[in-house]
Formats: sequence, structure tokens, C-alpha cells
Amino acid sequence: MAAAKPKSKTKKPAKTPKIFKGLDGVIVDETAVSKVMPETNSLTYRGYAVQDLCAHCCFEEVAYLLLNGELPTKSQLAAFRRDERKRRDISRDHVEVIRKFPKSAHPMDTLRTAVSYLGTTEIAWGGEAERIDKRRAMDLLAKIPTMIATDYRFRNGKNRYKPKPDLTMAENFFHMCFGKVPPPEVVRAFDISLILYAEHSFNASTFTTRVIASSRSDIYSAVTGGIGSLKGPLHGGANEAVMHMFLEIGDPAKAERWMKDAIVKKKLIMGFGHRVYKWGDSRVPTMRACLDDLAAWKGDDTWTRMSDGLQKVMLEEKNIHPNLDFPAGPAYYLMGFDIDMFTPIFVMSRITGWTAHYLEQNASNKLIRPLSAYTGKAQRKVKALVKR
Ligand code: COA
Repeated sequence: MAAAKPKSKTKKPAKTPKIFKGLDGVIVDETAVSKVMPETNSLTYRGYAVQDLCAHCCFEEVAYLLLNGELPTKSQLAAFRRDERKRRDISRDHVEVIRKFPKSAHPMDTLRTAVSYLGTTEIAWGGEAERIDKRRAMDLLAKIPTMIATDYRFRNGKNRYKPKPDLTMAENFFHMCFGKVPPPEVVRAFDISLILYAEHSFNASTFTTRVIASSRSDIYSAVTGGIGSLKGPLHGGANEAVMHMFLEIGDPAKAERWMKDAIVKKKLIMGFGHRVYKWGDSRVPTMRACLDDLAAWKGDDTWTRMSDGLQKVMLEEKNIHPNLDFPAGPAYYLMGFDIDMFTPIFVMSRITGWTAHYLEQNASNKLIRPLSAYTGKAQRKVKALVKR
């Protein structure tokens, strides 16, 4: 008896299929990690409003929340901190790999390679026990800031500062980059930026991470892919592009004129617009308050005044709101970071969201494999050059 034809659940494509370019508006899966609510300009991580987390928590607590689903108790936080601090340093070989990177390379490219190197230190696959991937997620959380700072020091011809286990993640990052920790209000602004950047549902880099996880590939590959996706200026790279735009404008008095010209020329203006938020980005007011504090600390209101001018015209003329990268770019600039470090800093935060999504995808996996509508040549025959 002939074997029964296997049943395929894949529907036959319609004659004129509806294409959702950029997956715009498509719900591809469920998640319990975060919820973006454009209708109320709000965002929650595991049910907590991001503003509430910024007001009452530090980045380490939020990292714990995203990875474990609940905020830590005092003793859980202490254990999490101990674990993170003891994992911070990278091996001597890893340091040497970073030392060999071309000084002209972009720090997102060096970070992508440094993370990928970490993945060569063990054989890893998707679908392993959750506790193993949680251990790897902790390693990535703890070591990524060290990779970024080590690369920053070497590219500037300086020796590296080893991580210090008595500092918080935010303090330690300043220490590893500059050899000193700035005043608490600056550290707090940085910590808040890390909380705001930590997670944002199915954005491009998180979706990339989940796509890679879905083939049962390992967490290092998934995160490496996430970094590649985040680098683009339509996504994480926008925080760097915003600062380049600010420097190009140069003078706050020129901001309104510059924006009017840019709109007439139909330029894409960095730090504005969002695929999901159409009435404002929930994270902007909190980050803008940090930018105001930093401007007061530095005694330099150039970038806050410039922001106001650009935002006013964009809202009046196109009704497009700024996104988180708009205040974050100048905030990192005032903190003293090189512009090409802004997106790597985004990575040291978003690693929490990516790894939480990696674990979620693994726990309920189905290979992500959409369909496409073919628009190429109709099927044809090969005209052989040589008779065989
Ligand atoms: N500058 C100028 N016009 C913009 C704009 C921007 N930053 N963002 C959106 N628009 C315009 C589009 O040109 C389009 O106009 P049209 O209808 O006349 O063609 C309209 O607003 C709708 O935008 P659309 O392209 O459909 O939005 P999207 O969801 O595809 O794009 C972004 C979202 C984020 C990719 C887009 O806003 C962008 O490129 N922003 C700049 C980069 C940035 O800041 N990225 C960080 C995102 S958090």
C-alpha cells in the first residue's frame, strides 16, 4: 500500500498575496517579557511601567526582572550582584583578541566579534537546560561592558582598567573607561538610560535574536546577530546618528531653520519616528529629564536648546515625535563617551532583553520560517553550452 502523503499545515499562497512589508502590524508570536502600548504611550517590563522602574530600581534589579520574571528580594539581589561582579573580567586571550582589532574598526563591529569570540570558548546549542543558558546570559551581561571598555582603551592607545568588584555596573563602566567614577547624579542618569534601553518587545534586533534561537542555534550566535541588527541607524545606531546631526547643526539658534530645510528636502531625520509609537515614545520624558540634569551639571545647555528647536518644528510641520535615541545621544555625549560608543552602550543594556527573549523562544520554540511572494523570472530551461 502506498504511503499516505504527509499533511502540510502551510496554506497554499493566495494568487495575489497581501504583503506586510517590514512585518508592519504583524503579530508573529506571544511574549511575557514586555508590552508596548502606543495608544497610551506606555511600556511595561514584566508588568511594571518603565517609569516606575526608573524611579525605584537600579539597572541590576531590572536585569534580574527581565531574566527571571520577578523583581528580586534583597537577598536575591545581593546574590545576583555577587554573581555578576565575579563574572566581569575576561580571559587574557580575550583581551589579546580585542587588542588586535584594527583601530579604525567601528566599536559595534569589534563588540560583535568580541561577543562571538566568547562563544568559541564552549560548545553551545539551543534547547539546552534553561539554567545553562541563564548562566551564559549572566556571563554576557557581566562581560560585555568589559569588552566595550577594553576596546575603547586600546583604540585610544591606553592600557585597560580591570573591572572593580566593589562598584555597581554603571559605576564600574565609567571606571573601566575613564579610570574614575563621576558624581552620583551622572551615574544615576546613565543607570536610567540602561533601564530605558533594556527591552522593547519584538524590535528588529530582538526579533533577529529570536529567529536565530528558533533554529536551535546557541545564545552567543543569537546575541551576535542581535548586535549586527542593532548597529543599523534605523534601529540602535540612531543614537550615534543623532549626535552627528547635532554637531553638524552646531548652534541651537540654527536648529529651527535646519529642520525646516531638512523637511523641505525630505531628509530622514535621526531620532524621530517609530514603527510602533505614533503619538510619542514612552521613554522620552524620563530620558529628557536626565539630559536636563546632565546639561545643568555640565553648565552647557547647547544640546537641550537644540533639541527643543528641532522637536518644535518637527511636531508642527510633520507631527512626528522624537524617540529614545534623541535625548540619549546628547546625554552620552555630555557624560564624555565617544560617539561611536553610544550603540555599544545600548548593547550592554539590551543584552538583558535579548537573552530574556532567547530563553522565552527556547521554552516554546517553533522554527521561524515565513513565506515570500516570488517576483523573479518564470520557470525556464537551461540552454546548455556543452552537450553532456
Ligand atoms: N524623518 C522624516 N520623516 C520621517 C521620519 C523621520 N525620522 N520617520 C518617519 N517619517 C515619515 C516617513 O517618511 C513617512 O512619510 P510618508 O508617509 O510621507 O512617506 C511617514 O513618516 C511614516 O513613516 P514610516 O516610514 O511608515 O515609518 P516606519 O515605521 O517605517 O519607520 C523608523 C520607523 C524608525 C524606521 C523611521 O521613523 C526612521 O527611520 N526614523 C529615523 C531613525 C531613528 O531614529 N531610528 C530609531 C528608532 S527607535
